[in-house]
Amino acid sequence: MDISPLTKIVGVIGHPIGHSLSPRLHNNFYKKLKLDIAYLAFDVKPAELEKAVRGMAALGFIGFNVTIPHKESMLNLVDEVEPGAQLVGAINTVKIADGKLIGHNTDGQGFMESLKRNDVNIRDRHIVVLGAGGAARAVSIAVAADGPKRMTIVNRTFERGRHLAFSINDKIGKRLAKAASEIPRDADIIINTTSLGMWPDVHASPITGYSLRADTVVCDIVYNPRKTLMLKQAEAMGCKTVDGIGMLIGQALRSIEIWTDTKLDSGAWNTMQEEIEHI
Ligand SMILES: NC(=O)c1ccc[n+]([C@@H]2O[C@H](COP(=O)([O-])OP(=O)(O)OC[C@H]3O[C@@H](n4cnc5c(N)ncnc54)[C@H](OP(=O)(O)O)[C@@H]3O)[C@@H](O)[C@H]2O)c1
Repeated sequence: MDISPLTKIVGVIGHPIGHSLSPRLHNNFYKKLKLDIAYLAFDVKPAELEKAVRGMAALGFIGFNVTIPHKESMLNLVDEVEPGAQLVGAINTVKIADGKLIGHNTDGQGFMESLKRNDVNIRDRHIVVLGAGGAARAVSIAVAADGPKRMTIVNRTFERGRHLAFSINDKIGKRLAKAASEIPRDADIIINTTSLGMWPDVHASPITGYSLRADTVVCDIVYNPRKTLMLKQAEAMGCKTVDGIGMLIGQALRSIEIWTDTKLDSGAWNTMQEEIEHI
């Protein structure tokens, strides 16, 4: 990578951040597309978040990604929140222009693009979302807008799941979603949005002990490891599976479009996917 004083800087902030594939993914992609941008990862503790964000703006970053545990607290640190991110209540992408910070959320679009590319249709299906954190909100709100029959939110903290179901119903204007403490038997598509199974906790799965029907589609948005224990369990039951890489690509491409004010063509997806195969 040829770094010069003109190189634009972006990155990701989270805590911990050691597991993130984003720096390698973005930097390889920028090199392929001859974009003069460098992407770095920053481990920022919650108490240091505000200072870190101000520092990035002062140093002339054109933007950055936000991951666990900062997606929700970032809402209070930006100058403007784009309506989609406001609805989700979490920010995963910040654009910095003329010193002004604008918060976006590209997770929902990334997830829907990944379903499309895996030929998974959610129309008239019963969708079960495991988790009710930032990513769950983004995924659920995007799914709800695409015509499922119904939705069930299953979360460790039941009240948080109930709150997410309420937000979905409020947005859609009908009683589409409800919270449950167990995964229902009639789930057509199960989407894990919890961090269970993510490195280094690779022996955890949110569906352990649950008996899956072979016609259930199982999606995991965790992408490190790419094949989580949950996806292995689902494959063993004969289920179609979708891993978290497609969402990672979709949300990353959208972030780049936001930072650079450009529209990437469809070849960009294939280029980023090829880069992932090499990681
Ligand atoms: N593929 C992608 O592009 C992509 C994009 C975004 C996120 N992700 C992945 O999605 C995951 C969640 O991210 P997030 O931003 O939504 O995180 P978050 O806001 O911190 O939410 C975490 C969720 O996981 C649940 N959870 C955590 N530990 C658990 C445990 N031991 N048992 C049961 N539930 C547990 C939490 O339940 P409580 O409410 O009870 O705490 C909450 O619902 C991460 O693994 C992240 O890497 C992937």
